[in-house]
Amino acid sequence: MSSHIDAVPTLGVGILGAGPVTQAIHLPSLARLGDILTVRHIMDVDPSVAESVAARVGATHSTSIDALLGDASVDIVAICSPHQFHAAQVIAACRAGKKAVLCEKPFAMNAEEAAQISAVSEETGVPIIVGAMHTFDPGWLAASENWGELPENVHTIRSSIVLPPNARFEDFATEIITRPAGGAPDYSDPEVIKGALRGGIMGLAIHDLPLIRRFTPDFKDIEVLEARHVRPFGYVISLRTPTRTIELRAAMNNTWKPEWSFEAISDDAALRIDFTPSYVQAGSAVATFTRGNETTVHGPFEHNGYEGEWRELAALATGAKQPPSAQTLIDDLTFALDIADATVANLEIQQAHQAVAEGAHA
Ligand SMILES: NC(=O)c1ccc[n+]([C@@H]2O[C@H](COP(=O)([O-])OP(=O)(O)OC[C@H]3O[C@@H](n4cnc5c(N)ncnc54)[C@H](O)[C@@H]3O)[C@@H](O)[C@H]2O)c1
Repeated sequence: MSSHIDAVPTLGVGILGAGPVTQAIHLPSLARLGDILTVRHIMDVDPSVAESVAARVGATHSTSIDALLGDASVDIVAICSPHQFHAAQVIAACRAGKKAVLCEKPFAMNAEEAAQISAVSEETGVPIIVGAMHTFDPGWLAASENWGELPENVHTIRSSIVLPPNARFEDFATEIITRPAGGAPDYSDPEVIKGALRGGIMGLAIHDLPLIRRFTPDFKDIEVLEARHVRPFGYVISLRTPTRTIELRAAMNNTWKPEWSFEAISDDAALRIDFTPSYVQAGSAVATFTRGNETTVHGPFEHNGYEGEWRELAALATGAKQPPSAQTLIDDLTFALDIADATVANLEIQQAHQAVAEGAHA
């Protein structure tokens, strides 16, 4: 236990899971917020990871969730373990009476888990936020204060992600399928393609689905028109609701410039937001809003959505801000799961048609 006495009391942070996201995303963000937050406890099931990461920040370390949740110096719990542990760990952190919880995306893997989390959050009153960092990016927030009626009037929404080839990105986007040890997934296998598309939606597109949902009032009525896997890794998915056309694109290719953009277009206005890629800590997104001949640019601001998440958690933990409703988190997750399910169903129809066509040629 640290004997350090803070000049001004800071909120204590405990982190469950100390892999790359904790090390390369959260600890650098927290290091810039030392006046309000102090990392007190690092837990990882791998004792050497827990010990070495905790040593970097002068925190206590352990390998058990109970030890971290029983540590009275921990006010805020961040869940950065693999996705299959998220729901149970969020529930345990709420039951332990912590002041706020950050759960890395995806915060649950099915609607039942989401409903359980919602019930526990309501019962305990512990605020929960999900690490969809773009929703905390000052560029997005500045745009939201200035876009007026745009969410009601858009007809077209696009999310486009172009990243350099990077095994980490591919791993996190395909985490939901089993990656063969020591090799690339076998993309000639239809089941692997289905898994990769589901993984792409739940691991990569999920960052921007809350943004898309903000512009899609009829989000519950989503239909997949076309879904394609892009090699070596990526997707092109065309969606529609009764009032919106939505396009999700992602590609990893070393001949292209990295890009992470979100666009919402109406008859007389358009919003484009250029985000920094995941893991990159280089200021905020830039939002460009155009109406007629007028263009307004918001950003770049000094910090990005990762730091924004931690500022939000501090405000929630002190009661300075009200948490998002659990229904918002459930709707975001349900939207992602609906798109993933409809995409896989669309792919199965394509594969069945292909099998029939091949049979006819045989
Ligand atoms: N917000 C973002 O930009 C972003 C980017 C990538 C990944 N993610 C999400 O962050 C989370 C962590 O990603 P990562 O790449 O660091 O994952 P990882 O799987 O590489 O590492 C997670 C760590 O958790 C530990 N662990 C395993 N089981 C555990 C358990 N039951 N309890 C506690 N710790 C456990 C592992 O030993 C490992 O050190 C994932 O949910 C992922 O989806 C977010």
